Amino acid sequence: MSDNHSPQQSQQTETQETPYLRKIRSFVKREGRLTKGQAKALEDCWPNMGLTHAQGLQNFEQLFGRQAPVVLEIGFGMGKSLVEMAIAESDKDFIGIEVHRPGVGACLADANEAGITNLRLYEHDAVEVLADCIADNSLSRVQLFFPDPWHKKRHHKRRIVQPEFVQKLRQKLRIGGVFHMATDWENYAEHMLEVMSQAEGYKNQSATQDYVPRPDHRPLTKFEQRGHRLGHGVWDLMFERIA
Ligand SMILES: C[S@@+](CC[C@H](N)C(=O)[O-])C[C@H]1O[C@@H](n2cnc3c(N)ncnc32)[C@H](O)[C@@H]1O
Repeated sequence: MSDNHSPQQSQQTETQETPYLRKIRSFVKREGRLTKGQAKALEDCWPNMGLTHAQGLQNFEQLFGRQAPVVLEIGFGMGKSLVEMAIAESDKDFIGIEVHRPGVGACLADANEAGITNLRLYEHDAVEVLADCIADNSLSRVQLFFPDPWHKKRHHKRRIVQPEFVQKLRQKLRIGGVFHMATDWENYAEHMLEVMSQAEGYKNQSATQDYVPRPDHRPLTKFEQRGHRLGHGVWDLMFERIA
């Protein structure tokens, strides 16, 4: 071969150069160890509660076997508050998306213990799930609680809340549906407010056109309780799709 590359090598070089691999992501995948309980939950509960990106577009009525409002949570962490919400709001169906496998396992274990049937999970990048698996105008609420703040200025481009992302998300909300964000990092709260205030088709639900008090449906996390004791702030933002 004239260029000293095997076909496999040149294919690899091409793949490495595809935009897919160069995409800026909002997470760094950590290879955390699974506890025994998480591994067991993944094995036992994934067949009933797991969804994959490869399945493509979902039909929520078929998936849950009923017609109900659907709430989607991006980056649910260990899933504690997601499971609490699914228990408390049993009239709604919940979809959680998380890339961290131990978190998915922990959430499955809690959901199984609670015996709930209104929750399904993805272990995948939420940006891709939104684009390929969620129908337009299908969501009543999207929740983004304590997203990775990417503190350093040079990393701000990795923050998931960006003008383009919030427009893609708007398509998935039904008219009247709400995008609910919460963060404990003031600079990210300001960034969210700036992006959302300029975003077409959304209305801020805050009377003062900035932040809202924590709504009752968002459980107070342990981490947040600790933050309150230390005098740290938490900012909730709720924007309704109006067009
Ligand atoms: C700081 S943690 C907060 C977790 C949880 N919401 C909480 O309040 O405890 C942010 C989580 O978002 C997840 N994450 C970040 N970007 C994501 C993406 N594009 N798709 C799915 N999960 C993502 C991370 O893996 C991480 O678990």
